[in-house]
Parts: sequence; C-alpha cells; structure tokens
Amino acid sequence: MPDYQTHEYDVLVIGAGGAGLRAAVEASAAGVRVGLICKSLLGKAHTVMAEGGMAAAMGNVDDRDNWRVHFADTMRGGQYMNNSAMAEIHAKEAPARVRELEAWGALFDRTPDGRILQRNFGGHRYPRLAHVGDRTGLELIRTLQDHTIHQGIEVHMECTVLDLLTDAGRMAGAFAYDRERGRFRLFRAPAVVLATGGVGRAFKITSNSWEYTGDGQSLAYRAGAALMDMEFVQFHPTGMIWPPSVRGILVTEGVRGEGGVLRNSEGRRFMFDDIPENYRSQTADNEEEGWRYTQGDKNARRPPELLTRDHVARCIRREVREGRGSPHGGVFLDIAWIKSRVSGGAGHIRRKLPSMYHQFKQLADIDITETPMEVGPTTHYIMGGIRVDAETQMSDVPGLFAAGECAAGLHGANRLGGNSLSDLVVFGKRAGEYAAAYAKANGAPQVNPDQVDEIGARALEPFNRASGPNPYDIQHQLQDVMQDLVGIVRRQEEMQEALERIDGLKLCAAQVAVPGNREYNPGWHTALDLRNLLTVSEAIALSAIERKESRGAHFREDYPEKSAAAAKFNLTIRQAADGSMALGHQPVVPLTGEQKQIIEEMK
Ligand code: FUM
Repeated sequence: MPDYQTHEYDVLVIGAGGAGLRAAVEASAAGVRVGLICKSLLGKAHTVMAEGGMAAAMGNVDDRDNWRVHFADTMRGGQYMNNSAMAEIHAKEAPARVRELEAWGALFDRTPDGRILQRNFGGHRYPRLAHVGDRTGLELIRTLQDHTIHQGIEVHMECTVLDLLTDAGRMAGAFAYDRERGRFRLFRAPAVVLATGGVGRAFKITSNSWEYTGDGQSLAYRAGAALMDMEFVQFHPTGMIWPPSVRGILVTEGVRGEGGVLRNSEGRRFMFDDIPENYRSQTADNEEEGWRYTQGDKNARRPPELLTRDHVARCIRREVREGRGSPHGGVFLDIAWIKSRVSGGAGHIRRKLPSMYHQFKQLADIDITETPMEVGPTTHYIMGGIRVDAETQMSDVPGLFAAGECAAGLHGANRLGGNSLSDLVVFGKRAGEYAAAYAKANGAPQVNPDQVDEIGARALEPFNRASGPNPYDIQHQLQDVMQDLVGIVRRQEEMQEALERIDGLKLCAAQVAVPGNREYNPGWHTALDLRNLLTVSEAIALSAIERKESRGAHFREDYPEKSAAAAKFNLTIRQAADGSMALGHQPVVPLTGEQKQIIEEMK
C-alpha cells in the first residue's frame, strides 16, 4: 500500500505550457479551486519553441486579412482533415486572445503606427503572426505565468502523473509522483484538463526537450478516451544539425519570414524546383518577387520557402538524398544575404532574430549575419492526439478535457506555423471554462483505493528487480526505430518492422530494472516514461500503416498520391477490452454551407 499526500481540487490542470496556464487562469476566474501540475519547472514548456509568432487574423499589416481567410488557410494547410468547427472557432477567437495577452502585459513588436506587428509564415496568405522578435512563445509563457501566480492557483512543480483515476467511467483525479523525493501524490478532482504537449522524444531528432514523452495522450488512452490522427507528425524543416550535441534545436520559420532563403550545396534555391499545384498561383516564380513579398509588397507572391512545412521538409530531404546537401547532412539557410537589401544591415537581422543570432553564435560559433546556417528537418509537433469536442474540449471520458498539442482536430494533416500559439490560448481558455462548469455541475467522484494501490505498486516494480534491461537503452532504441522507420517518408514493410520492434521493446520495458532509491532518480523517471513513449509510438505506427495515401505530414513512398476514399476518415485509436490497440474510422466532420463557400471563394 503506497504512502501518499492527498490534494483536492475542482479542476486539475496537468501541464503548464500555454494551454495549461490559460486553462488554469480561466477555471480559476470561474471561482473554482484549481491545481496545476507541471512535469518540469514552471515556465519551461515547448510553447517557447513556437518562436516566430502567434497566428491571428488582425489585419494590422494587410487589411485584406480576416477570420475567413485564416480559416481557409488552416483547412488547406491541414489538407481538409481538420475538425472544421475547431478551425472556425480558432480563426474567429485568435485575435481576441492576442489582444487579451497584450492587456495582461505581453510586449508585441509594433508597426510604425503603433499596432501589433504581424509577419509572414508558411501557408498563411497574409502577414498574420503577431510576434515578439523570435521569442514569442517565451513572452506568451511569461505573461500567462505572471497572471497565473496572482490568481491563487496551486502549482505542483516537478511532478509527473502516472495515471488518471476514474469513477464508473468519469474522471476522479490523478495519481502522481514528485521527481525530487519520489513521493506519491493523490489528486482528487472531478474535472481534469490535459495540456501535456507532444511526443517528440519518441524520435531521435527533435526540437522537444525531455518532458515530451506523450504523457497526456497515453494517460487519456488508458482512461478510455479515443486518440485521433496519430499518423500526422510534423517535421519542422529547419532544425540545427551541427554540432551533434545541438542537433534538432529549432531554427524558427521566422528566418524565412524575414527573407531567409534555402540553398543546396550548388548554391541553388531548390525550393523553386517543385511548387505544388494547389499553391502555384500564389507562389513567386522568381527570386525578386519572393523578396518583395517578404518586404510587404501586397502585389507580390510568396517565396517557395514559405510553402507548408511538410513540403519544405521533404524538399530538403530530397536535396540531401540526391547528394546536394551541406557538409553535415542538411541544406543552407541564408539570412545574411538580406544585409545589402535592408537599412540597418546586420543590425536589422540581429533585431528581428535576436534568439537565432545568439543561438548560432553560442552553440555553433556562427554569425548568422555573415554565414548561412546549416539546417535539416526536426520532429517538432504532432497534429494528432486526444479526440475532443470542438466547443468544450471534453474527451470521450466525462470530466476529462484536453487542450493544445495533446488534443487533436484543429490542424488536420499538417499544422501551419504560428497556429500552435493561438491554438493554446483559444482552446486552453475554452477547456478551463468548460472544465470549471463541469466541476460545478457534477459532485465529487469517489477514488477507488485499489486503483491507487495498483498504480503505485506498478511504478515501484523497477526497484524490485535485481537485474533487467536499462531504460535509457530502450528509449534510444525506440528513438532509432521511429526516426528510421516511421519518419518523414514511410513504407509499409518498414512500419511493419517498427511495430514488431516496438512489441519487443514493450517486453523489455516490462522487465526494466533501476538501481538506487526514489530520491531524484532519472533512471527511474525514464523507466516510467517508457510506457507512454511506447504507447504513442505504437499508435503512430499503426495509424500510419492504415493510412494508405500521402497527405500533409504523412508521406508514403508506396502510396505517393492522395486518396479520395482515405480523405473521408480520421483514424482513431482506442484501448480494446483485451488491452490491445483498436483502430477505428471516423467520418471527417462535414463542412457547413458557409465554410464550403469560404473555401470555394478562397481557391
Ligand atoms: O518556427 C517557429 O517559430 C515555430 C513556430 C510554430 O511551430 O508554430
């Protein structure tokens, strides 16, 4: 029988990035008791990796922009696999969420006449990303964190949830351990909001830090919720590739938004070689026009570097495969070339991209105002996740809500850059509001002590074995499997092999042994994370095998075309009664009459 401390809340928020913080603020404003759990220290979240901006159709830089264009761009970027109700809510509510952040103290960059400045990003028709240099996510977190700590919300830092608790199928809370002392914590709550972010650590090359092990997705899955769209994993085209210790760290799309261009080893802008048909009419066919677009010429078309991320990542992979890559296996991203075209020269670049300047100077000894960066794709984001209701963000489990990256629906098959930050605050707010309402309307659930005992005993098992596989070895093997066999370009046999290897790793993970004790023991923490990593990896591989077409971020060499039949369904994953993963097909949410009309007009 494990010992534990007990905490009681109306709404428990798990995850303290942008979505979790925004949910906590909203729930607290509704007058309920709110607890906030973060796996790491408060303020350390993948939200900061959305550097280049937050997409909202405010029309400050181009007054042709409005929610209808943003909605159409998001749907086209997501290849129409999006939940269109979520895409509409998002496009309509994002501007208000930006203004709210400003009112709470966020210091956005300004236009010359004092409005919030907006920049270009891939797939957005007009300059739409409200930004703070290249530190937008950081500013968002800073602002929300300040707001949160003044609301009396209790924060539990360095705390990892082991499992959710249910009472006759509805939410009852969570059971967790604190990383410092290894002690268990019981959280009782009728409403739980999952805002735990993504799954990047299942892959070898990633912009995600150690916390992102698919926790929310796996917790929800084990509690009975459906996952959806797990095959759609986004590989951001530009991560650092050299030196090896920094491989995967993000190089913001803001570099390309400010006029940065991609070149291969021959010095050629290879992105002009392959412009997809559905973007041809909007894409510049010469370098000069592309440059004018980045400088705000409303009559110019976007440079091909600002096509959607899935496409740019595949073009980079092609250059490398065909022998035209940079010395360390990427391509060149050149922002230095704009020096002669802008007033302020190198100072202009440092002012627009301060983090990138310091990142490359400190980590790679490169001055980006002089020398092109070497970049390559990095696992950045998962579009799939917990299936939720568009309005309320509630999952299939009563009382269990999800928002931000761990929830599915908004982005379809491919997310547009900058839509993540707006997603976090639009749907974080909604999740907090509806979770508070749910908690008020539903009485306190019962916690089953047997369920708690079982979770605690299971977590301690690795200490009971004298010997067994090493958790770090298993994690590294899994990362190799996912990177090599379920990566940017996929094939049936390889993914089948991945599934077999994942099965083998599951057996190893069940026998893992860790030395030492419960006080800050990273080996034990890794052993516990494995369960979630293996769950999301299996869900990704299974869904990717099932989707026999290429669409958005999911590209299959054996099925390179889109399939009209496959486009009709989102894929779902549930835990079957025997504990196995059950795949399902769910019809894509139909467009309303108005939405159809908008999409037609924008074509
Ligand atoms: O490139 C970036 O700044 C990333 C933004 C995002 O993922 O939304």
